[in-house]
Amino acid sequence: MDDSDLPLFQHVKGFVSEEDRAAILSGIALGHDPSSAHFAARTKAIRFVTIIQGKPMAFAQNYFVQNADYNDFSGGLRRVYSLIPSEWIEESGPVGKMVLQFAEYYRIPEKTVILVQIQTSFMRELNRTESITGQGIHTDGADRACIVCLHRGSGIFGPANQFHAKLDGSKPLTEPKILEHGEACFFKDNEVYHYVTPGGCKKGADASAASAPAPSSETQEASVAGATAGAVNQRTIMIMHAPAEIYMMGIENKNNTLGSRVSSVKLRDENEKGTETVEKAEKGADNAAYTSELDYMGLAQSLGSLSLTADRHEY
Ligand SMILES: [Fe+2]
Repeated sequence: MDDSDLPLFQHVKGFVSEEDRAAILSGIALGHDPSSAHFAARTKAIRFVTIIQGKPMAFAQNYFVQNADYNDFSGGLRRVYSLIPSEWIEESGPVGKMVLQFAEYYRIPEKTVILVQIQTSFMRELNRTESITGQGIHTDGADRACIVCLHRGSGIFGPANQFHAKLDGSKPLTEPKILEHGEACFFKDNEVYHYVTPGGCKKGADASAASAPAPSSETQEASVAGATAGAVNQRTIMIMHAPAEIYMMGIENKNNTLGSRVSSVKLRDENEKGTETVEKAEKGADNAAYTSELDYMGLAQSLGSLSLTADRHEY
């Protein structure tokens, strides 16, 4: 694909209609996200999709793997999640329409695997803010991405999204910005770093706030808890990444060489201590002790709300 004429990132309003946004929020069943034990509680549902003959098609795979090179926090672990309903992926479905817009914007070739994630962060009333991603300035490891704000509770402050030219934060390209309802931000994940600022919940708002569902005690599979989004302390975003074979298989993306910053907390280490149950990968991968699978948390992780200007930005 040749999208060299497109900016490093671009903020757009009205990416999703109010009707579709409401349909997703009222109908989504998100499962516990085990990787959020180290940051604000989060639930998530995922779906791998591709486009054939102009129609979005859903894959059945309900887990993903992030190459450890890109996510030092949880890289190398395998995660199973709830699936976004396949009917939503159809051409006329609320998610399918956004997938088509994403592919059209970046001219993504047909049959490219695209990962779609919908996730809700549950912000707590704290005396401090907390991370919603568990990551600092980073890349998600893909080539192209798009984050969409589906809900931002009235009690929330922060989190905001920011793009950086350098991993050490010495070259921010924007001020942190917040994505409002229905807004989206496209970004070239292999050309620019991003960061999600910490967030919290205003005093008093927590009283009517929703709690994140507890993880299943039996398995690490997502526990579909019907965590309907929309509460005052919730922030729900959808994020798309392409190409997504890297998350499907845990393989390296040779097109993304931005590298990663060392995280102070590693789920892989937790796993070694037995405090985090993860499936060990059958095939090994790289340099991590437990290589092979992982959650792509972040990024997707929620990235959060991104709100940037619609202008072009260059280093
Ligand atoms: Fe990210």
